[in-house]
Amino acid sequence: METIERDFIKKLWAGRFTEETAKSVEEFTQSILFDKRLWLFDIVGSIAHATMLSEQGIITKEEYSEIIGGLGEIEQEIKSGKFKFDEALEDIHMNIEDALIKKSPVAGRKLHTARSRNDQVALDIRFYLSGVTETVIIQIKDFQKTLTNIAQNNLETIMPGYTHLQRAQPVTLAHHLLAYVEMFERDKERYTDALKRIDTLPLGACALAGTTLNINRESVARQLGFKRISGNSIDAVSDRDFVIEFISNSSILMMHLSRMAEELVLWSTKEFSFIEIADAYTTGSSIMPQKKNPDVAELIRGKTGRVYGALVSILTTMKALPLAYNRDMQEDKEPLFDVIDTITHVLHVINEMFTHIKFNKERMRKTAAEGFSLATDLAEYLVTKGMPFRSAHEVTGNIVGYCIGKSMDLHELTIEEFKKFSDLIENDIYSRLTIEASVRGRKSYGGTGEVEEQIKRLRKELDMEIEE
Ligand code: ARG
Repeated sequence: METIERDFIKKLWAGRFTEETAKSVEEFTQSILFDKRLWLFDIVGSIAHATMLSEQGIITKEEYSEIIGGLGEIEQEIKSGKFKFDEALEDIHMNIEDALIKKSPVAGRKLHTARSRNDQVALDIRFYLSGVTETVIIQIKDFQKTLTNIAQNNLETIMPGYTHLQRAQPVTLAHHLLAYVEMFERDKERYTDALKRIDTLPLGACALAGTTLNINRESVARQLGFKRISGNSIDAVSDRDFVIEFISNSSILMMHLSRMAEELVLWSTKEFSFIEIADAYTTGSSIMPQKKNPDVAELIRGKTGRVYGALVSILTTMKALPLAYNRDMQEDKEPLFDVIDTITHVLHVINEMFTHIKFNKERMRKTAAEGFSLATDLAEYLVTKGMPFRSAHEVTGNIVGYCIGKSMDLHELTIEEFKKFSDLIENDIYSRLTIEASVRGRKSYGGTGEVEEQIKRLRKELDMEIEE
């Protein structure tokens, strides 16, 4: 008993070492300060592993009960904040194992049979990340619902649609917002697809080559709810594709959110004046009393940088690693955790903020009508009268040039003036040259005139009750 105790004041690997680890090395190599967030997954993974070891007769029933009892106590200690995490014990795996061995010197030392920290850490991250991914998917869906509801209430809110940030054609606010709902739909698909690959059990790969002991990986997979079991033990411990995929999907999500944030910043300027964000979701300036700043939107845009940074970081860490496990891979966690914290926070706050945005409908409508935004409608009118589109485009361009010279808008021209450009133009042109007609007329699938149908399709996809 004495020797066992003394052994574990040293490291769990102390056997082949004659010197203690330098303090600086302990500080440099530790990951406990950040990987402690995996503690529950580590414990639950160990319980499943111990259960399998006992089912297989590798440990006795008594040893199994001691291990389970000890892990249960450790769980309580961590939950209540009593557990002392120790940097000298490097990481969450050794902190927990060491605590178990202190409680149960013999049985505790059997828990790590047919396991290595290499497959254990891969298990913990996968286990944790699959839950996180499910939460992110729910958060995205919640935000899509918020946007779809706002769109529903703004089917008649006309605004300018832009290309090159120049007014292009009138659209509805509903149509514009639903473009983001589509982007988030793809984001959800990407996370859902990645989930299939996250959901692979690496435990049982051991250090890299498997084990001579008669383990049962199916049992562990079943207990932990993993759908697949890794097919190659070398790959199982050296694979971090699932981390890269999660961060890559998150980078695309952040790119979408950042584009949206940028629009909110623009729209809240005096120059645009399309929206007002409620005081509770803006901040003031410490020097300019008149200022109300869209800091939340700016920070969402800004935080996109750190998520992209995490992607480059993990890709670079992995790029030249020989098989199988290398300690470099410990560097996967901080970027991953930072991305998780960032996107869950961003999704929460943007969803909340969106319900506190007032849309300045009059201003949007007024700007939509300016700047010859109905020129395409005029060209398409000519097409319906039989003119080839390229010619219609040219004629309309001439008309616009004429209007600019006269400081007039298209609908202000007399029929005689129109006829100077084309005989095909009749009195029915006037009913086409209103922004309402323009918006309503674009009935092609996915177009502005078809948004009500788009909402119906989306409400179904998002499991929202269909509104009559
Ligand atoms: N803390 C390590 C990590 O995060 C756990 C695996 C350590 N394995 C080893 N052979 N040193 O990657």
